[in-house]
Amino acid sequence: KPIVLSGAQPSGQLTIGNYLGALRQWDLMQDAYDCLYCIVDLHAITVRQDPAALHSASLDSLALYLACGIDPKRSAIFMQSHVPEHSQLAWVLNCYTQFGELSRMTQFKDKSERHNNNVNAGLFTYPVLMAADILLYQANQIPVGHDQKQHLELARDVATRFNSAHGQIFTVPEPYIPPVAARVMSLQDPTKKMSKSDDNPWNFVGLLEDPKMISKKFKKAITDSEDPPRVRFDIDAKPGVANLLSILSGVTGKTVAALEAEYEGKMYGHLKGDVADAVISLLEPVQKSFTELRADLPTLQSVMRTGAEKARSRAAITLAKVNDAVGFVAP
Ligand code: AQP
Repeated sequence: KPIVLSGAQPSGQLTIGNYLGALRQWDLMQDAYDCLYCIVDLHAITVRQDPAALHSASLDSLALYLACGIDPKRSAIFMQSHVPEHSQLAWVLNCYTQFGELSRMTQFKDKSERHNNNVNAGLFTYPVLMAADILLYQANQIPVGHDQKQHLELARDVATRFNSAHGQIFTVPEPYIPPVAARVMSLQDPTKKMSKSDDNPWNFVGLLEDPKMISKKFKKAITDSEDPPRVRFDIDAKPGVANLLSILSGVTGKTVAALEAEYEGKMYGHLKGDVADAVISLLEPVQKSFTELRADLPTLQSVMRTGAEKARSRAAITLAKVNDAVGFVAP
């Protein structure tokens, strides 16, 4: 089976964007692929985190992965920091990545502007750690959102460079484009993506939010002033309505065209109410299962320990090859 690796940062509560764009796809991939899903806590600290919040968000993420159907029998589920090989390989790959290449990364440019009081070296070398995450497992397919494409390209370049210097050590990964690509946008500014670490909580819907709050957030979502108002999909002219339509389509499985026909002549308020209801029913079983799992620390520990063991046994093979290739003496 082709190997797949993906992860999310415990930098806040996972959102409906993370669900439609990542977790749901991860779930669907578990039979056809050999999957490794991690909680990328090492990545999260490239932005300053409150330690207690990071700790709790990491366990929340783990319980949410499970509640969303990620199955520890089929996939390795682990905390990135439990597999030290990620940091070890990242160091070696740092020495095979050029300063100029990292300077061109648009996410670095964006994040260093947003967090301009903490432009740390980890934020700069974030893509190298991501390359290590992927290359460590010889992953073939990487599900990537639009904003991670440039990082995957860098991982491919570094792998190719290392291979041409030292022989065939790494599999060069390919992007995996999901059959229905979802990019969920912010509810208050639908031209930017929904992010869990957004300062304004009205911009995102967390997977663990109270149904009443979810309704309020969708009710307050920005639409437009087209006169007369029409529910139609036009990203440039009507990004707010387009976002609500894609969320509804993602949750219900109906096509956007079918939804446009269904909402012909209806008001935006009607659409917002239906999106909220659909999201609430989608999340009801997820939240129920989350509550049980999150209270069961022994189960969470057992899942993450088994996952880290599985991951480490595979990561160690690649790291040993890399260490040997660069000339390190075996211990
Ligand atoms: N809005 C989104 N729509 C669709 N997919 C999304 N993903 C994130 N936001 C959306 C996908 O979720 C996975 C995990 O993302 P991440 O936690 O590693 O980092 P991110 O992409 O930076 O997500 P956030 O929520 O925006 O986090 P912060 O706020 O901490 O930066 C990825 O597969 C991503 O594509």
